[in-house]
Amino acid sequence: MSMSAHDVDELRWDPFDVVMDVAPYDTWRRLRDEAPVYRNEEYDFWALSRYADVQAAHLDPRTFISGRGTVLELMGGDMASTRMIIFLDPPDHTRLRGLVSRAFTPRRMAALEDRVRQVCASLLDPHVGSPGFDYVQDFGAPLPSTIISHLLGVSDADRDEVRHHIDTVFHIEPGVGMINDVSFGAQLWLREYLTGQLVERRRVPRDDLLTDLTQAELTDADGVIRRLTDDESADFANLLISAGTETVARLLGWASVVLAAHPDQRAELAATPALIPNAVEELLRFEAPSPVQGRWTTQEVQLHGRSIPAESKVLLLTGSAGRDERKYEDPDRFDVHRSFDSHVSFGYGIHFCLGAALARLEGTVALEETLRRFPHWDVDEEGAVRLHTSTVRGYKSVPILT
Ligand code: HEM
Repeated sequence: MSMSAHDVDELRWDPFDVVMDVAPYDTWRRLRDEAPVYRNEEYDFWALSRYADVQAAHLDPRTFISGRGTVLELMGGDMASTRMIIFLDPPDHTRLRGLVSRAFTPRRMAALEDRVRQVCASLLDPHVGSPGFDYVQDFGAPLPSTIISHLLGVSDADRDEVRHHIDTVFHIEPGVGMINDVSFGAQLWLREYLTGQLVERRRVPRDDLLTDLTQAELTDADGVIRRLTDDESADFANLLISAGTETVARLLGWASVVLAAHPDQRAELAATPALIPNAVEELLRFEAPSPVQGRWTTQEVQLHGRSIPAESKVLLLTGSAGRDERKYEDPDRFDVHRSFDSHVSFGYGIHFCLGAALARLEGTVALEETLRRFPHWDVDEEGAVRLHTSTVRGYKSVPILT
């Protein structure tokens, strides 16, 4: 039996294929050009890959809901019952978002800058004069987990133990992935710890986010004004830990690899640190740390001549949206000077990343402090280790030679 050209060329995008994940750019381009409403029968999902379509779906949360999950392998069940903000739909989402945004204030973020700088210095200084270090393991991963503990108000005495458990949450078991007993045990430990701390904060308030969570009020569905329960607050703190640690570690991993591949632009950033905030946005566009957001349709959607039925899983390909030539000129070129009005790497609309200001602060300060000490490095390509889970894309380990 001979194969037709069509079979050879079959357009297939598999979110679990770790080989495809290394360089998905051509597949993403073909999806945008040839199948902007892509159907995958094997895993039973649809995928939108053009910037405009991803953005439009984010802006229509009645049709594209989060309550049935946003991660492909966990989609279908009632994820809203986890009460995690990321899985809530309006009006529950609107109420909780209003409350936690008040705890997550710009004032609290701005006050963190000095701490972020100190933590960067304490992680980077020991490597000055050494032949090199692992940019993710020794720097990109510990930085956000230390900052999140600080933000929540973890005391100095507990800090190392808490950080150890946060890092353990991200333990990946070979062949099993992110959902494993080691990670689960660490999540339980953190939950208990956080619940204990919340009880403590109610007794003795402090100037920290945990205290804010115990004091903030929300108006319930029946109009009653109430505070969050300790359970709800612990859930939220837990989500901040998982949403705010892994993504920033991946962003910094990408920074070390992409800047090493563009040494002229790296030199420019070292000479002109004012360019760094824009470089962080360009990095987020160029290599989205969280490249796929899932949604569930509540009604039929007609798009580009195809029909997505109600009750379907739709993946929004954030990584592809950042490379869409319909939105960005010469999108496969990394350019720290690129001027653009928006990207979807922090999501868009009602679920827009609550921690975006913190992620931007961490990204900017981390690169400033890195480039001040290490204006030049090479990546040990052989030693670099990729990380691919259903929610993040990047590196677990990037050994650099300084
Ligand atoms: C480079 C780092 C980061 C990236 C790329 C990122 C990406 C995203 C994306 C794409 C979403 C939208 C998810 C969706 O629409 O389903 C999101 C939501 C969220 N992020 Fe981030 N994030 C980052 C850092 C952080 C940090 C540092 C925190 C907290 C400390 C955080 C907390 C959250 C929360 C709570 C939500 C849910 C918001 C809601 O549902 O209303 N993220 N993030």
